[in-house]
Amino acid sequence: MDWGLQNRLSQIIKPQNNRALMLAVDHGYFLGPTENLENPKKVIAPLLKYCDSLMLTRGVQRTSVPTSTNVPMVLRVSGGSSIIGEDLSQEEITVSIKDAIRLNASALAMSIFVGSKYEHQTIVNLGKLVNEAEEYGIPVLAVTAVGKELGKDARYLSLACRIAAEQGAHIVKTYYCDNFEKVIQSCPVPIIVAGGKKIPERDALQLAYNAIKGGAVGVDMGRNIWQSENPVAMIRSVRYVVHGNATVDQAFKLYQTICNEKPQQNKPQQNKPQQNKPQQNKPIENKK
Ligand code: R5P
Repeated sequence: MDWGLQNRLSQIIKPQNNRALMLAVDHGYFLGPTENLENPKKVIAPLLKYCDSLMLTRGVQRTSVPTSTNVPMVLRVSGGSSIIGEDLSQEEITVSIKDAIRLNASALAMSIFVGSKYEHQTIVNLGKLVNEAEEYGIPVLAVTAVGKELGKDARYLSLACRIAAEQGAHIVKTYYCDNFEKVIQSCPVPIIVAGGKKIPERDALQLAYNAIKGGAVGVDMGRNIWQSENPVAMIRSVRYVVHGNATVDQAFKLYQTICNEKPQQNKPQQNKPQQNKPQQNKPIENKK
């Protein structure tokens, strides 16, 4: 593997412990102004320092992320459909490799829709994207199984993940499921688990814990963080699971502690400016 590609991969999956915490904020590319992500800049600002990388579109990166950040960007380069359109699976590559390089992307992300009407198109797009990205030493993350109509059991997910890896994806993002080990065992590249729709905080921590225990290198969580009652407390607690090897009880206790300590400071302010008082109580989780 080329030095540049390996270096970029190590920005996303930390070599110290082979773990990754990605914050997903790319939902608008087909969902528009998703609940609690209406203003990406305000959502991202208080969360940025707690994630290892940010998954987003070029529009959000240019408008809503400070250029001074050293957080690696996983740039979504596929799109072309919307939640109100005919078929979510009809995606193409919408971002050029030149623009991805201008944006200093550490990885490119795109979806494949195995078993859908546009399966062929999206799988071929993945192969072509890998061809191009490898020329510049940029890894590709393939996202599998987005959409209600696609299956989310181990049989389907191992099929979709394996196909992504066979096309050359360097990381695969998928869903957690029963018999998750089957998905892990049959996929030769690292797997990152998406958070999925909003569930209670403790359940989301359980999902992150199960995913790691089951063999995923980490999570790429969006809605379960920024749709939480307390997004900062939630990302810090997920981080505690991913990088601090916390149990679900320990992580949920941290969540509650942070909520009780400074509830107003831990909420991203949708309409008010962020207060920036110094923290008096150091968190116990393994923070960046
Ligand atoms: C889906 O297409 C997007 O790539 C999201 O990044 C992904 O689903 C993860 O976000 P969430 O945790 O909200 O499912």
